[in-house]
Amino acid sequence: MTLLSDPRGTMPMRSGIGEADYGTPKSNSETLVSVTIDGETHIVPEGTSVMRAAGEAGCDIPKLCATDSLQPFGSCRMCIVEIDGRRGTPASCTTPVEDGMVVRTQTAKVAKLRKGVMELYISDHPLDCLTCSANGDCELQDMAGVAGLREVRYGMDGKNHLEAPTDASNPYFSFDESKCIVCNRCVRACDEVQGTLALTIEGRGFNSKVSPGGLNFLSSECVSCGACVQACPTATLQEKSVIDLGMPTRTVQTTCAYCGVGCSFNAELRGDELVRMVPTKTGGANEGHSCVKGRFAWGYASHSDRVTKPMLREKITDDWREVSWDEAIQYTATKLKEIQAKYGDNSIGGISSSRCTNEEIFVVQKMVRAAFGNNNIDTCARVCHSPTGYGLSTTYGTSAGTQDFKSVAQSDVIVVIGANPTDAHPVFASRMKRRIRQGANLIVIDPRKIDLVESAHIKADHHLQLQPGTNVAVINAIAHVIATEGLIDEDFVAERCDPGPFNRWRKFIELPENSPEVVAAQSGVPAETIRQAARMYATGKNAAIYYGLGVTEHSQGSTMVMGMANLAMATGNIGRDGVGVNPLRGQNNVQGACDMGSFPHELSGYRHVSDNAVREQFEMLWDVKLMSDPGMRIPNMFDNAISGEFRGLFVHGEDIAQSDPNTMHVEKSLKAMDLVVVQDLFLNETSKFAHVFLPGTSFLEKDGTFTNAERRINRVRPVMAAKNGKQEWQIVCELAQAMGYEMHYDNAAQIMDEIAEITPTFKGVSFAMLDEVGSVQWPCNDAAPSGTPIMHVDGFVRGQGQFMETPFVPTEERSNRKFPLLLTTGRILSQYNVGAQTRRTANVTWHPEDVLEIHESDAAMRGIVDGQKIAVSSRIGETILVAHVSERVPAGVVHTTFHHPTSGANVITTEFSDWATNCPEFKVTAVEIRPADSSAAPTNTLESVLTKA
Ligand code: SF4
Ligand code: SF4
Ligand code: SF4
Ligand code: FES
Repeated sequence: MTLLSDPRGTMPMRSGIGEADYGTPKSNSETLVSVTIDGETHIVPEGTSVMRAAGEAGCDIPKLCATDSLQPFGSCRMCIVEIDGRRGTPASCTTPVEDGMVVRTQTAKVAKLRKGVMELYISDHPLDCLTCSANGDCELQDMAGVAGLREVRYGMDGKNHLEAPTDASNPYFSFDESKCIVCNRCVRACDEVQGTLALTIEGRGFNSKVSPGGLNFLSSECVSCGACVQACPTATLQEKSVIDLGMPTRTVQTTCAYCGVGCSFNAELRGDELVRMVPTKTGGANEGHSCVKGRFAWGYASHSDRVTKPMLREKITDDWREVSWDEAIQYTATKLKEIQAKYGDNSIGGISSSRCTNEEIFVVQKMVRAAFGNNNIDTCARVCHSPTGYGLSTTYGTSAGTQDFKSVAQSDVIVVIGANPTDAHPVFASRMKRRIRQGANLIVIDPRKIDLVESAHIKADHHLQLQPGTNVAVINAIAHVIATEGLIDEDFVAERCDPGPFNRWRKFIELPENSPEVVAAQSGVPAETIRQAARMYATGKNAAIYYGLGVTEHSQGSTMVMGMANLAMATGNIGRDGVGVNPLRGQNNVQGACDMGSFPHELSGYRHVSDNAVREQFEMLWDVKLMSDPGMRIPNMFDNAISGEFRGLFVHGEDIAQSDPNTMHVEKSLKAMDLVVVQDLFLNETSKFAHVFLPGTSFLEKDGTFTNAERRINRVRPVMAAKNGKQEWQIVCELAQAMGYEMHYDNAAQIMDEIAEITPTFKGVSFAMLDEVGSVQWPCNDAAPSGTPIMHVDGFVRGQGQFMETPFVPTEERSNRKFPLLLTTGRILSQYNVGAQTRRTANVTWHPEDVLEIHESDAAMRGIVDGQKIAVSSRIGETILVAHVSERVPAGVVHTTFHHPTSGANVITTEFSDWATNCPEFKVTAVEIRPADSSAAPTNTLESVLTKA
């Protein structure tokens, strides 16, 4: 969809090309009232402002301090109107319509007053419109025109702000104070939309000005979400890309490719050049908000490191050789077939990527099953949310979160477990913070003191600061309190859940070993804190659980997911707005990767490969015989490579050598294979072991869909031509064909049509449908043609909800005298996953290297000071990081990120994994730390390994 101009062709706006701005938020009242505006009568919901009612009727009222993403403020006086029976000229933005109200928006009186207001603004504004970067996109300029201002009587000689300095400290936007009209929109955007409260208006009267608090924007609390830039009606806050490249002229709507929130953006271009990404107000997941990654960190797509030509080499010690697509595809197919001829059909496999589109993922798993002839397909979801799939499908019958994001606005108690939303899912975190500021209670269960525990206007009611590895003990203790204190919702359980498993669970959970007093000793969380949190969760009207990788990446990840599912069922917190159990998915399309049949045991829609009826449907459609036995998981592929049975791997957009645990083991297995094929944007750690490199496409070049953490299927549209000359699904089809399996589509829409044909939960989905409605949450089929925002409303997908016993089994990874500290890993706001994208943007300004957070007492005991290089050793390996002495971690726990390959954080993580899904236990590694030589480089990084090899 390409829009060339504002379809309404009316009032100019700042919120992005093609999006109307009605000045004040929509009223959701069901009561309707009648209002007459300039002689015409209109019916609007009660609570609608006069400004909005007029705007919706096509009669725009001039405005400066109002925008429909913010509550009305009423400071600029540009929006005055006359209302019959009212004295004076009220501001239309702050005046709600009343039944029978008669409004006149264009009288001579208001025109004169507006012109006078505008004259005052302009008299303190640099009149450089023609050379200003916002020329054509400035509401002040437009309002001057609307007010009919031709000259300024006061001249420019008086006291003014024209010499005020520009703050260019932020890498992505600048703040030119001389152009500020102090409308307060930026301050309110930071408060109301983002929830960071980084800005204030300093001073009074003439001296009032916007202040980021610190020295400048970069040194302030600002998290560069861009909400203030979007809200600013002038060029005061302006994207540097617009200043450099000029105003965009056209828009393509697409979806962010970073995290599982799945924000919708208008990619705004000038010719073929991308100028800026503006979050769309109609985006179901983000409703006009963004974070620094989606808003600004897209430059990697055009980075000079991009590989755009296929490359080959016989040995990994050879130099790469650029080849044609034909040669690359033929070589790969021939090699894979040779390996199979020599070592058997099962000797090759593939890994699909959660960064790619549903359509690309679907064809990758189809290629493996149909062209490779086995089920050796796995996905990077293996190392993050596979326990979510197992746990939620066992208890509820479906492998996905239960709510839409909007649901949190109805929550009375919010429980955040093992997740750090302000860093990893920032746009959803803003929604959550808004609800908490409105009064919802907050319980945080996390070893670290994440931002939500205490930040601007937010304070958790309870922080259960547990020892890493004791999640299950704590969730059991919470359930124990609920069961033994009579807090179970007996009616819900009797009506909705299977009684046998419930009774067994009840007996189990009431055992003394699950009491808070016993668990306090295991987890370090005081028994009384557990009791209070349990009561709060069980007695709050609507209680919702949100969780992340701090739940799943454990040896008991699946047990913990089931423990949370039990808790929601036991308290009746499932099946309506404001409640539920919600995984905050890491990557943009991790939900889609799972939905599309990327696991070795499941076809699309989570149907087991051993189900004859299901398999027959696929065999008929694909015209091929499929294997009925599950294939290898990623860890099996690695193990079997080392033992010599698994010899060829197709890795689709996933840097396994950096992101998977126990790097040395991964490297050893990659080195043992005869053929490693990597399809990606950049040469990465895995490609160091590859023989074929197939260049991929960035999200700005893709055509397809992503499915976010709330099961929302969003369109991804090509903003620019594919730099490699091919869509990724085409490359995969060509490889399948070269291997002898006929696989062809004319376009990505046809792939979605096939997905819909064969996947019951996607039955009603097509590109045409998505283009019409924007997005839809699966299941979308005959039973739910408009999709399903909330799951399990009238009954669980599996019929009756199934309680599962969840005994706590401590991980085998324990601290001891040699490795006395427990290392846990996480993400930070400005970087993403292995950093391949964000490290190639100005986001490195905020996180140039991975650091190790260590408590003051642990640091002092080892003679370590902040900023010092330290050696971190585990039973598996050793790496070098920089110490950051921090109160975020308790004594005995250390924390790091894994965004930079040089730190090689996964060199030290172990191979322990979830008992059900093999999801690695990234969150618990016993380590010791000692000061390192200041010149020390990471010892076991891939670089050093290759040098040694
Ligand atoms: S920076 Fe922009 S939004 Fe903020 S007060 Fe100034 S003009 Fe208004
Ligand atoms: S970019 Fe976001 S966080 Fe920073 S000042 Fe603006 S609204 Fe606040
Ligand atoms: S919250 Fe996630 S999806 Fe949204 S802009 Fe940020 S990284 Fe992109
Ligand atoms: S827009 Fe209404 S007072 Fe500013």
